Amino acid sequence: MIMVKMKQPDSERTPTGIYGFDDLTLGGLRKGRDVLLYGECGVGKTVFCIDYLYKGATEYGENGIYVTDEELTGDIRKNAGSFGWDLKKLEDEGKIAVIETRDLWITDISDLSTEYGLGNLLKDITGMAKEIGAKRVVIDTIWGLLRELREPTAVRRGIFKIMDTLEKLGCTSILTSEVGESGLSHESRTAVFLADGVISMHRKSWGAHHVREMEVEKMRSCEHIFGRHPFFITPKGIFVFPLSTRFIKYKKYGLGEKKGRGIERTSIDIPKFMNLLSGKLPRGYNILLSGGVGTNASSFAQGILYDGLKKGESCLLVNTHQPSNAVREFMAEIGMDTEPYESDDGKLLFFDDYVGKQIGRELLIDIFSNPLMMGYIMDRWWRDKKPEHFRWSVNSLTVLIGMSKREDHADVDVASLERFLYDRVRKIRDLGGLGVYTINEAAHSKNLINQIRNMMDMVIDLEVTDNKTSMRIAKSRGIISNHDWHPYEIVKGKGIVLS
Ligand SMILES: Nc1ncnc2c1ncn2[C@@H]1O[C@H](COP(=O)(O)OP(=O)(O)O)[C@@H](O)[C@H]1O
Ligand SMILES: [Mg+2]
Repeated sequence: MIMVKMKQPDSERTPTGIYGFDDLTLGGLRKGRDVLLYGECGVGKTVFCIDYLYKGATEYGENGIYVTDEELTGDIRKNAGSFGWDLKKLEDEGKIAVIETRDLWITDISDLSTEYGLGNLLKDITGMAKEIGAKRVVIDTIWGLLRELREPTAVRRGIFKIMDTLEKLGCTSILTSEVGESGLSHESRTAVFLADGVISMHRKSWGAHHVREMEVEKMRSCEHIFGRHPFFITPKGIFVFPLSTRFIKYKKYGLGEKKGRGIERTSIDIPKFMNLLSGKLPRGYNILLSGGVGTNASSFAQGILYDGLKKGESCLLVNTHQPSNAVREFMAEIGMDTEPYESDDGKLLFFDDYVGKQIGRELLIDIFSNPLMMGYIMDRWWRDKKPEHFRWSVNSLTVLIGMSKREDHADVDVASLERFLYDRVRKIRDLGGLGVYTINEAAHSKNLINQIRNMMDMVIDLEVTDNKTSMRIAKSRGIISNHDWHPYEIVKGKGIVLS
């Protein structure tokens, strides 16, 4: 009988736990393999490694070893401490071990008995890995470790030996390498060939504005998202924002072929609003509220979401330029009390509170300046909640367009906004939600406005003349509607009132 040894499936992954990174890689690092992480000095390699080991030990039950060449154990602890991570405690609990190699002068890769031998160090790592049952290893930096090796062949063999040892231990490892202005050093290039995966970190700046970017350059036999994506080092650790929302696996969630589409319907029960339509709205509908200053487009959008809350739907309210407290107060004043819907697992979430809690408010401006980052967060909200029914509103597109056009964000332009919007509109259709977007058309070119109006299922125009506000349904896909202008008012305690 022939025994066939089953190999582990190639796609088995180790989630790092680093925000956004596991979506960028569509699952995490390849289990039991090694990646090379390279980038300029100060770009964030060491923070990434600490984050990786910390999340492993605290969230995934995977212990780890930190082999540090540049910094001493105390420095690493301090560094971790600046993110609120108590490394010393994890060391005491036997979950993380730090091995310092700064005083090691490796000149011989096979020497097993002296401090000059790589073999000796690998023996230490192996012993430690067995002792604490390590599943993650970081070598920061690989070049520092092998700095004394002069011969390129020795370096190559050294790197190979390290990777081989770590793979045999079954550890998922990160090896870091510094790059200078002249690019990758010879040693790093060798590591690029040998490593199973390669990730690079970059820095970009325009004037006073700086952004860090990350790219997964290679991950053998694994699907991942291509290109450079922004990441931030915040007091809570590393946050990566894949500018692609491909991580929502349509098949996995049974989406894409909406069962009840066109049959399952919903309504917007703002008094008299439904009278303007021949029937209910299909689920998966996008509504543009187009109105300038004084038309109360924001309140209109909030009213549509509040109606959803009353029907038990989950709502995400994105206010680009009003802090949630101000919106909350104003909504309460006109009869939309949000409090009952905002408990911990509440149905209503204000986008900036969500960002504040998960990431930190200091990134809000960066997020509003790059709608694709916003899109990623909105999709995460959906994935985390998986609401049966939901509505979201983006108030306002005008502010987003303005922010995207800023000169210091030269690579984030109107095209990103359109891409963001196209993606939102499609997600609403595929996921069966209701999307509401406000815009002040006077602030934009006709061309852009036409494109946005085209994407939408319903367009409601709002106008103010002589202090009187009126609205009309300019377009409603699939439903017959009354196109006349109708006066409306925002009434204290009552919300939007049509007459
Ligand atoms: N607690 C922190 N909060 C915010 N940013 C931090 C914090 N700690 C470090 N950083 C940022 O990380 C940078 C250092 O990154 P590091 O990972 O040491 O770079 P590398 O290892 O690539 O040389 C610092 O220059 C700083 O910008
Ligand atoms: Mg470093």
